[in-house]
Amino acid sequence: MDLATVDKLLTTTRSVRKRLDLDRPVPPEIIEECLEIAIQAPTGSNSQGWHFMIVTDAEKKAQIGELYKQSFFIYARSNQEQTESQGSREHDPEQQSRVVKSAVYLAQNMHKVPVMVIPCIEGRVENAGPMAQAGLYGSILPAAWSFMFALRARGLGAAWTTLHLRYEQDIADILGIPSHITQAALLPVAYYTGEDFQPAKRVPAVEVTSWESWGNKW
Ligand SMILES: Cc1cc2nc3c(=O)[nH]c(=O)nc-3n(C[C@H](O)[C@H](O)[C@H](O)COP(=O)(O)O)c2cc1C
Repeated sequence: MDLATVDKLLTTTRSVRKRLDLDRPVPPEIIEECLEIAIQAPTGSNSQGWHFMIVTDAEKKAQIGELYKQSFFIYARSNQEQTESQGSREHDPEQQSRVVKSAVYLAQNMHKVPVMVIPCIEGRVENAGPMAQAGLYGSILPAAWSFMFALRARGLGAAWTTLHLRYEQDIADILGIPSHITQAALLPVAYYTGEDFQPAKRVPAVEVTSWESWGNKW
């Protein structure tokens, strides 16, 4: 394998928000092609209970975008109140401030993205234990993340978002999603502007890794 290219893909698939090109149409074929790649991902018991909702209709995007925006600002307000009362617990306030600005931009523009993709999975986790929860989400998240890699390799970007799920039922009603289906994320998809992305600053893996017993370093 060409490790340089593979590692670049793995380390530079970022949350794209401000750099989503809202004016450039996305051909349906490219979405289908990326999904074809995505469904090589694993699923529990090879169940393949996934389903991908693609939304390009302007009216539906407007409704979903509005719900996302409402949820985002509820979340942002409660975060701010928590920070004011307890102080900030961020490990990199500068990076976090960039994320917040970018997230506000997305909330205000979600309805304008050319394509929304909602990865879904058969089943519900209400009243389920950790094994069933891990099995359900673990059978859709790898595919959704592969989809983001496939997009990135083709010059398109997306942002992993979940705040729409405050209104999961409303969105299910808009899209006719049956009640036994779980929505896992909402991916706004578009070509990205600019040339490239950089690896993000992270807490080094060694600091969050234990060998043999919790807290034991290499
Ligand atoms: C489970 C999950 C939920 C997320 N939900 C949202 C969201 O609702 N809105 C948003 O703008 N970003 C959301 N993000 C994106 C994170 O903010 C982002 O991954 C993080 O800031 C790191 O940036 P990067 O993806 O560019 O490395 C979510 C990410 C994950 C993994």
